[in-house]
Amino acid sequence: MISAVLPKLDGITQALIAGAKVADVGCGAGSAVLLMGREFPKSQFIGYDISKYALARAAEKLKLSKLTNATFADPRDQPMATNNSVNFITTFDCIHDMTHPQQMMQSIRQAITDDGTWLLVDIKAHDSFTMNATKNPMAALLYGVSVMSCMSSSMSQPGGAGLGTLGLSANTAEQMAKSAGFSRFRKLDVEHAVNAFYEIRP
Ligand SMILES: C[S@@+](CC[C@H](N)C(=O)[O-])C[C@H]1O[C@@H](n2cnc3c(N)ncnc32)[C@H](O)[C@@H]1O
Repeated sequence: MISAVLPKLDGITQALIAGAKVADVGCGAGSAVLLMGREFPKSQFIGYDISKYALARAAEKLKLSKLTNATFADPRDQPMATNNSVNFITTFDCIHDMTHPQQMMQSIRQAITDDGTWLLVDIKAHDSFTMNATKNPMAALLYGVSVMSCMSSSMSQPGGAGLGTLGLSANTAEQMAKSAGFSRFRKLDVEHAVNAFYEIRP
């Protein structure tokens, strides 16, 4: 991430070196927050997740790391900023798992500064089942994972969007981001077997 992904984002490595406010939404056990926290000591990091198990692991790893520029929180207890004050927001492999991804994108827009950057990393998906099945050699595995995990997660609350593992194609992500108030959407030139990487800006 530090050497292959962040440099592809316009001005982000320099901003992190100088000192920026960063949130990782759907942070899981906190690896990305801790990795960036160690690399960029002048920046402040917060990881958000709704899983108490993930947050407990993140807290344990934070203690071992001895970092003082990172914290973790459940956004239901400590909501994300709504005053456009976060410079850089990351979401790794989690928007498609969320019950209300469109609402989350709106919250990200409310949190991010007007010149901020959202790094969206999600599964490399096409627009239809047929395209996924013919173009992605891992489609059978990914649809299996979807039924067992991602689809179940994304439909686990009433009205859940149910995007599932392969539900967030570049076109869908761009449309949703634009509906949430973002205007710039760029696919990054990052080689990865499973994931696609997007720079999204207000
Ligand atoms: C597949 S995991 C990815 C975790 C981590 N980003 C990674 O790459 O290892 C998806 C995460 O999204 C979290 N999640 C789902 N809905 C969320 C929400 N509304 N707000 C914050 N986190 C959420 C889940 O609890 C889970 O930890």
